[in-house]
Amino acid sequence: MKRAHSEVLSGDEVPNKKIKTSEPEVSESHTSLLYTPPSGRAPGPVTFQQPQQLVTFSYTPQHELEFTNSALRYYVDPPNGADLRYGYDRWIKRPEEKGRLDSLLRAVSRTRSKMKEGQPSAPDWLSTIGVVSWRGVMTKILTAPYEERDGWDLNVMLVNGTLYFEEHSSDARLVDRNNLPPNQRLQTYYGYSFESYCTSSERPTDGHKAGWGGDVDTNVQWCSVVKTKLADTRLVIGGEVDCVRDKHTGKTNTLVELKTSMNIRHAQDEARFEKKLLKFYFQSFLLGVPEIVVGFRSPQGRLGTIQSFKTVEIPRMVRGKPHAWDPTRCLDWANRFLTFLKDTITPCIDKEDSAATPVWRIKFNPGTGISASLLDKTGVDEVSAGEERVGFLPKWYLDELKDSKAVPLLHQASPNHVPKRDSIQPSQPTALPSGWQI
Ligand code: A3P
Ligand code: MG
Repeated sequence: MKRAHSEVLSGDEVPNKKIKTSEPEVSESHTSLLYTPPSGRAPGPVTFQQPQQLVTFSYTPQHELEFTNSALRYYVDPPNGADLRYGYDRWIKRPEEKGRLDSLLRAVSRTRSKMKEGQPSAPDWLSTIGVVSWRGVMTKILTAPYEERDGWDLNVMLVNGTLYFEEHSSDARLVDRNNLPPNQRLQTYYGYSFESYCTSSERPTDGHKAGWGGDVDTNVQWCSVVKTKLADTRLVIGGEVDCVRDKHTGKTNTLVELKTSMNIRHAQDEARFEKKLLKFYFQSFLLGVPEIVVGFRSPQGRLGTIQSFKTVEIPRMVRGKPHAWDPTRCLDWANRFLTFLKDTITPCIDKEDSAATPVWRIKFNPGTGISASLLDKTGVDEVSAGEERVGFLPKWYLDELKDSKAVPLLHQASPNHVPKRDSIQPSQPTALPSGWQI
């Protein structure tokens, strides 16, 4: 028998109350969640497997993907007091685009073929994977219990038992992100400039002189794709990695994340920084990046202290502090989020017709929770944006999957689960999980 969500999730779920959303596109009949006030009850531990690197790839200056390490950079100590404004006028800035999964899917496809080569008679590796997502989206999901300001929207599709997440950006939002106010644009540049000072395309030798690592071109990126497991859900996650310390081992153990932050002068600055560490932490944790090097800077972009943090030690550093956060809460929430999606997004009956694959919209509202709704044709058309896609997934990828004899494992994990195909109707509200505590 199907379990009610209120049984599956410990939170307080209140149906048929309208969520206050900033955008009007959500149906009036939407089911909502009540914000759950802090109860002090700490959730039980949720396991997260050490991420294992599957493949790396690079984007060239033309932003073309290649399965090489051409964009890999090595960590070097930056010069004292460096000017982070240096080279600003020469910044080659990649335009902001929709958060398409295409490159990650190419990496998934490549991994899948390699696995098949090694064991041709083994079941399809991809059929064991519950979620494919960019790291940025997973970071947003995990840190949502502590997010007070920024909402987000996801597009989600289920194919052969695997959920695919794409961040949904409306055209208006993209225009905004491509036209940052000048000061914000400069502050963003400081982060990239720090990366340039801290990296070299050559492995540094003993006599390496600290300096500028080359003009910033945000088309060029080095990405790592890992597999990991949150509770009982296997995940494939991809994301950009800033550099490696000493050498690339083909594992995650030498990866380094670079971050900038404002100098800390008062207790208030310290609290702000400790709050920011939540995002730094999960961003690195999800890809198995063991080290985060933070460059503290002045508002004018003058580099001050450099501090290296071991990712695993960060939660202990903030414990008991005024803006303390608990990663266990985040993992517990993410697990419940995924369980909810698995229970809500059920396989499409018409498996032969990939054009019938529904697209779901998950909306997160800070202080409220998440909501899920099935997109109608207009919504799906906006997502595919006239490109050769079904929903947001490229047609070439779905064609590849069509040939596979994958058995969806996702829903086998839940013996009580009854597919709710009847309930899948455009704009039909779905019951939602809640229960996070801040
Ligand atoms: P900082 O994080 O040091 O400010 P990343 O750290 O993820 O590798 O990103 C490199 C830089 O890109 C960031 O440096 C920041 O300048 C910019 N950046 C990344 N994500 C951003 C976001 N969501 N909004 C604004 N700037 C962002
Ligand atoms: Mg960085």
